[in-house]
Parts: sequence; C-alpha cells; structure tokens
Amino acid sequence: MSRSIAWQDGKIHLVDQRALPGTHSWLRIATVDELIEAITTLAVRGAPALALVGALGVALSASKHTSVAGVDHTSVRADAHRIAQSRPTAVNLSWGVKRALKRVAEGAEAVLAEALTMLEDDERLNRAAARHAADFIANVAQGDRLRILTHCNTGRLATGAWGTALGAIRDLHERDLVREVLATETRPLLQGARLTVWELQEENIPVRLGPDSAAASAMQAGDVDCVIVGADRIAANGDVANKIGTYPLALAAARHHIPFIVVAPESTIDVSLLDGTTIPIEQRGPEEVTSVAGVQVAPSGTAVYNPAFDVTPHDLISAIVTERGIWTPRPTDLERDLERFTAVV
Ligand code: MRU
Repeated sequence: MSRSIAWQDGKIHLVDQRALPGTHSWLRIATVDELIEAITTLAVRGAPALALVGALGVALSASKHTSVAGVDHTSVRADAHRIAQSRPTAVNLSWGVKRALKRVAEGAEAVLAEALTMLEDDERLNRAAARHAADFIANVAQGDRLRILTHCNTGRLATGAWGTALGAIRDLHERDLVREVLATETRPLLQGARLTVWELQEENIPVRLGPDSAAASAMQAGDVDCVIVGADRIAANGDVANKIGTYPLALAAARHHIPFIVVAPESTIDVSLLDGTTIPIEQRGPEEVTSVAGVQVAPSGTAVYNPAFDVTPHDLISAIVTERGIWTPRPTDLERDLERFTAVV
C-alpha cells in the first residue's frame, strides 16, 4: 500500500491533500513553520496523520537546534508546543508530539528514531483495527454484501497508510462484502468528495457520493446497512469527537436502528476527559463556509458558524474499534441494532 507521509533527506514529505483530486503532488517540509502552515491549511489532515507529522516535526526541530553543545531543549520544547497547538481537537497530534519529545534528552537521532518507529507502526495498527472492525461487521452481516455510509476521509491520506474506517471498508472489500459505499461530501471542505471518493476509486471500490444532507433520507429509504467513521478524540466514557456532521449521522442511524461504528487507533482515546463535553472543538475561518472552490456564495460580511468537529454521545455508538479490539459503549442497543442489521441484508 502506498504511503502519504515519508521522511527523506532530512525533510517531511507529504501528499498535498489540498490539491486532490485534481493534482497528486508532494510537499517537502523543511521547517517547523512550514509544517504548521501545512497542518493549519489541511495540506496534511486526519488524526493519525497528524500524530505522525507532529512527531516528525519535533525531529525536524531537534535536528535544527542541535550544536556541539547538544540539543537546545528550550527551543525544541517551544516548537513542540507550537506544533501541538496548531490544531486542537485531534488528541493524536499532541500525543505524537509528546511521544517524540520524550526522547529529546537522548539527542536528535533518538527523536527521529521514535518518529520513524511511529511511522512504521502506523500501517500495522490501522490494519489491526480495520481487521477487528471488518471481522465484527462480517460476522453480523453473515456473508451478505453491505451498503456502507462513511463520512469525511479516514483512508491512507488521513493516516500513514491503509486507513481506519476506510481501512475497514478496504478489508471488507477484499472479502467481497462491500456492495457500495455511500460517501458524504463533508461540507465545508469536502474531504469526502475530494479524498474518500478518490481513494475508493483508486481501489475500484464501488462508491456513490451524496450531499451530507441526503444521509438521513438514504437511511430512511433503507439504502444504508451500516455507518463507519473515524475519530479525532474519544473521551473516557466513549463520547467521540469527529468531523462536523458525524453527530447527525449517529442520530439518524439510531432512529433507523443502523449500526454506527467508530474505528480509530488507541492514540485517539483521551482518558483525561471523563466525557465529550470538554473536548476542544476547533472553530475555523468564515471563508470556508461563505465560499465554494474560491467563489464567494454568501453576501459579503455574513457572520458564520464553522466548528470543524462535533461530539457524538457514546449512547449513539454501537461499537468503538481500535487495534486492541472492540468496545461497545451501549451493549443493550447494540443487540437490537444487530438484529436489524442481519434482517435487512
Ligand atoms: O478536519 P480534518 O479533515 O482533519 O478532520 C478529519 C476527521 O474528522 C477524520 O474523520 C478523523 O481525523 C479520523 S481520520 C482517520
């Protein structure tokens, strides 16, 4: 599986996600400032990918701030702090930064070694989580081919390789268990339309694109057997922050008794937060809503509400799946949903 993040010649190499699907190009990031620009403009995005570039960013800083006297810890810590703060919701970013920073006393090479280990581990962890999710879904689907709704982009672009929710879809496709993926376009930045459809087409996985606002009626019409999404932060009680629009999908899925499954690496779990109410939600600029593809569509000066994420309460989630296994925050409802799941397919 091709990768979307690499370390070469002392630089971070990234697929520039802003340019897709029109252009597949690589950015070569040589400084922490360039990395922060790439993170805030979503050239690199997706929680597991942010963990990896966060760690590689600390490695960049450590190599830059190394002299004969050793590593300048104060400067590296300041850079690490700036990187970790550049996007607040995905806990994976600060997790990746902290993990690399722990090695700074051993020197720049140790920091880089840690970041490269994370990069190496990423595909294995994603594949393990995806396999658990696919086993779970395959088991309840009893051999029938599924219509799966997914939101935002959780594929190889959002990780180092393979993907989380999209990884589970790839795994199910390899078992010939995918009839169709319904990808939501994911307003306002269209990660679903631009990135998920591109990744699925790359693998010849059947996909239809729909507006976010059509998801509930697709469920009502009986066109969705299962919803699979990723996560940016999971609180201790199982509340899940993910791309804005996830919560309404979970509400609609619960209304129609459709299993709603979250796939994410363990690094997404933040046990320091008892529930989702204190997850920091990134608010983004108004132009993302008032313009479409650079064309202004709302009157000048329109006030805008643009949270990048929402929080789905755990009682709407059928299962949270990580590389370690399956967690069912609402086992009672899950039994009912799974009955319906086997009934429709
Ligand atoms: O704003 P984005 O594009 O970084 O948001 C990404 C998401 O919400 C993804 O669903 C999440 O990070 C999981 S990616 C495997």
